[in-house]
Amino acid sequence: MTLQAKTLAQKAIELEDKYGAHNYHPLPVVLAKGEGVYVWDTEGKKYFDFLSAYSALNQGHNHPKIVGTLIEQAQQLSLTSRAFYNDALGKYEKYITSYFGYDKVLPMNTGAEAVETAIKLARKWAYEKKGIAENQAKIIVCEGNFHGRTISIVSASTDPDSYGGFGPYTPGFVKIPYNNAEALKIALQDKTVAGFMVEPIQGEAGVNVPDAGYLAACAELCKQNNVLFIADEVQTGLGRTGKLLACEHENIRPDVVILGKALSGGVYPVSAVLADDEIMLCIKPGEHGSTYGGNPIAAKVAIAALEVLKDEKLAENSARLGEILGKELRSIKSEMIKLVRGKGLFYAIVISPKNGKTAWDVCLKLAENGLLAKPTHGDIIRFAPPLIITEEQLKECTAIIRNTIESFE
Ligand SMILES: Cc1ncc(COP(=O)(O)O)c(C=O)c1O
Repeated sequence: MTLQAKTLAQKAIELEDKYGAHNYHPLPVVLAKGEGVYVWDTEGKKYFDFLSAYSALNQGHNHPKIVGTLIEQAQQLSLTSRAFYNDALGKYEKYITSYFGYDKVLPMNTGAEAVETAIKLARKWAYEKKGIAENQAKIIVCEGNFHGRTISIVSASTDPDSYGGFGPYTPGFVKIPYNNAEALKIALQDKTVAGFMVEPIQGEAGVNVPDAGYLAACAELCKQNNVLFIADEVQTGLGRTGKLLACEHENIRPDVVILGKALSGGVYPVSAVLADDEIMLCIKPGEHGSTYGGNPIAAKVAIAALEVLKDEKLAENSARLGEILGKELRSIKSEMIKLVRGKGLFYAIVISPKNGKTAWDVCLKLAENGLLAKPTHGDIIRFAPPLIITEEQLKECTAIIRNTIESFE
């Protein structure tokens, strides 16, 4: 590294450390540029991005169509608030609802806001349609979940880092084991349950893939008990697992779908909740919203991001290349790899520390070798490249991963 570049990188890290809250612990890599599957640091070193901003960049960095749309709309009309109509939102609402086959969409900005929206929607539906007594509605969630960081969402969490020290908590959440339909069946005996909110694959928990049939069984139980099946597809949706929505692997149509992240291809915070009229129209004017939700830039960018997914067949690419990624990862013979799991281009390896070397050390070495990934929960490394990756690039990446891990032997 040249002295100047080193100084630049160090300076950037020092600034964040001194002036930013310490709510993240990034890998010591300072990025300055991105394009497609690649990012470059301040010195010009090139890396494969194997995190894709937690799957917000399924379409790759700086996708020309998405960036072009963003620039064009920003110069035309950026924000009106929902006090007035704008000429982009309705077209987007029509586009996304027919894309996913729902009556209505409620646009928000971040994943957490969309999750909050779904929770509010389920509660409102429970009081207005299901006839649950006021303030009694419950939402069932799963242990190990990650749905975001607001007070209500962390109240639904079982991760001590997420909820520890943030009480008092929002009541009304029932936590049951993940990948256990029997536990759901028992929890559903409570007639005050409004909804069951679940990640089709638990992303932040370390790409925790449930058994085949689990989601379908849960959806059926919800149907039998008049409980909303709410799929949090913020990370698993939009092609990541090899289908447009991960729920499609089990042919489920959730009552409520939560989307975020790649809905903008990584250029803007755009999230959405999809549901049919019977549910969505329970929320009336003034009862929910957001200043930026449904703004014209978000509306145009989201259409472009969804078009790119279809035009470039990214879910199909994810399914095809995911098979290769899984096979390659499973063929690495190392005592350090305790487990490999995943679906589509959404994989994780569970690391067994060796000679004091942990998943963090593996990620540092991967970065040195030109591939960026980040540990989660201390011992798990998630591999989630942009879905535009080619087979040739993927093979280059699996060779980097193999060589890196073998270098610890
Ligand atoms: C499944 C899931 N839901 C919700 C969220 C929250 O999204 P955001 O960080 O945009 O608030 C995340 C973020 O990682 C997520 O993975």
